[in-house]
Amino acid sequence: MINQYRNIVKSLILLSVIGFICLNLYFYWKDTVPIVYAKLKDINETTRNLSPSTPYPKKRRKSMECPSELWNQVHTDIVPNEDLHLDWIQKNISRRDNIMESQIRLLTAFVYPDHISITTTSQRSFGQNVSCMYYDCLREEIENSRYESVFFPMNVIRCPRRIGAKYVSIGLEENGNGPKTQEPIPMIYRNFETPPHQISVCVGPIYGLENRWLQVAEFIEHYKLIGVRHFYFTIFNINEYGRKILDEYQRTGEIELTVIQSEYQNVDWQFHLLQINECHQRSKHHSKWVINVDIDERLVILDPKIKSVLELLNGYNDTVGEVGFAIRRIQKTGQLPEKYESEEQILSEMEFLKYNVSSPVTWGAYKTIYRPEKIAAMYYHWAYQRYPGTVAEYVKSDVALIRHYRTTESNILGSGWLSDPNYASFSIVPIEDPKFGEKLAKAVLEKIKYVYDQRDLNCEEIAEVPYQEYKEFGHDIFNCRFRNETGDKR
Ligand SMILES: *[C@@H]1O[C@H](CO)[C@@H](O)[C@H](O)[C@H]1NC(C)=O
Ligand SMILES: *[C@@H]1O[C@H](CO)[C@@H](O)[C@H](O)[C@H]1NC(C)=O
Ligand SMILES: *[C@@H]1O[C@H](CO)[C@@H](O)[C@H](O)[C@H]1NC(C)=O
Ligand SMILES: *[C@@H]1O[C@H](CO)[C@@H](O)[C@H](O)[C@H]1NC(C)=O
Ligand SMILES: *[C@@H]1O[C@H](CO)[C@@H](O)[C@H](O)[C@H]1NC(C)=O
Ligand SMILES: *[C@@H]1O[C@H](CO)[C@@H](O)[C@H](O)[C@H]1NC(C)=O
Repeated sequence: MINQYRNIVKSLILLSVIGFICLNLYFYWKDTVPIVYAKLKDINETTRNLSPSTPYPKKRRKSMECPSELWNQVHTDIVPNEDLHLDWIQKNISRRDNIMESQIRLLTAFVYPDHISITTTSQRSFGQNVSCMYYDCLREEIENSRYESVFFPMNVIRCPRRIGAKYVSIGLEENGNGPKTQEPIPMIYRNFETPPHQISVCVGPIYGLENRWLQVAEFIEHYKLIGVRHFYFTIFNINEYGRKILDEYQRTGEIELTVIQSEYQNVDWQFHLLQINECHQRSKHHSKWVINVDIDERLVILDPKIKSVLELLNGYNDTVGEVGFAIRRIQKTGQLPEKYESEEQILSEMEFLKYNVSSPVTWGAYKTIYRPEKIAAMYYHWAYQRYPGTVAEYVKSDVALIRHYRTTESNILGSGWLSDPNYASFSIVPIEDPKFGEKLAKAVLEKIKYVYDQRDLNCEEIAEVPYQEYKEFGHDIFNCRFRNETGDKR
């Protein structure tokens, strides 16, 4: 009896194992069969190999050459909230025309579960008609896939999904000659049901002649200490020395970089909204909350019971789309250092250690942390338009605020703030939490030294074999110095 029972159980287990394997094989087959990587270079050869009696339709052959990915089997007919967008366009809500003759260059594109966003470098297209265009893995346009959409907000085009689309572009009607298009760009994957990051920072654009290397490290390490693990940076321009620190944080996977290249030689504060809007689209479905601040702004938590930004935001329910923070401006009277020199230099040049002459707390130009999916259009500081059913909340300034190390130079936007009555009664405000300060200084120093404390190659380090092998071309071909020439003891 027991043996029979055992055999039945064994057979059942065997059957289910076989079934499981078959299912797996089926799905494996289902996933892999269409992935026929034809030799793309020689189309004639591929065509020749096909039997003439079964001529493949052109479209079918193309899709055979592209992998058919499960996540990319989505077709949608509409752009979510499009009627609302059209209504807001009619009413000019969030409209801001800044640079009227700029080229409309494709910048980035993102694919979400139910739509696609494309961003451009133009600040003059609000509400304009534009076609979404879709391309397969071979950058060939997918037949009958175009969609008539509009720019909303400023430099953003929203499009429905198309099966197998890997690249997108836009078509702009010009004098009835049919749409003029441009080189398609890849869609960045944002097809997440739950965002992989709880909180990230959209960092204001980097531009100008001041050297940013130390400021970037101080900024990132500061936010890491309050629980942030991901950053979206945008470069208008930066010198090679400053770029090294960004490359370093990109290496560790902590930052994403958007680089804006336009036809203008100088891209500066007048282009700031490009970053705001691009970062909004970039963070959708990727980060639940986004801190919208500039590189000289640091969120500080004053309530000692609260250890991280997420803890601070925990109390807000799903209707809250935006949380505002008051600002304390601190006079940044000097320039950031040009190059790394020493530990002492770093300890005296970090903004949070160097500057403490502060304005009173104000709500004048408050900044927000927002939920990217709940916002339709962002403005510099806060949401221009939230979707219906969402509200904004404000954090008391004794719980948390934003310290803004604002330059006192006079040739900048908003200069003259020193004599503005909202800010004018200055006092010295020491850093709120010396322990936090110590941790921050240590983290910045470590990172800066890792990237910038670099040395010469000593000739003594070169192994005998390559040295003898190449010495015949002369010692000078080696980029190295003998220790007796440098006095370097390392
Ligand atoms: C493919 O075949 C056509 C017609 O035979 C010929 O004109 C063309 O040059 C060939 N292309 C290549 C890449 O060999
Ligand atoms: C919207 O803005 C445009 C350009 O400034 C203007 O021509 C138009 O009259 C405005 N429409 C409304 C409804 O305000
Ligand atoms: C834009 O498209 C809409 C809807 O298709 C159409 O009614 C409108 O006339 C178009 N506007 C322009 C300026 O072509
Ligand atoms: C959610 O939060 C908002 C704003 O804080 C509040 O007005 C609303 O009552 C809350 N809703 C629920 C269901 O708790
Ligand atoms: C304010 O900053 C100055 C200059 O860095 C420093 O000498 C001074 O000790 C600081 N004062 C306080 C109260 O932190
Ligand atoms: C330093 O040492 C190298 C290798 O031992 C030697 O060839 C060179 O002449 C020395 N230079 C000086 C300035 O002493």
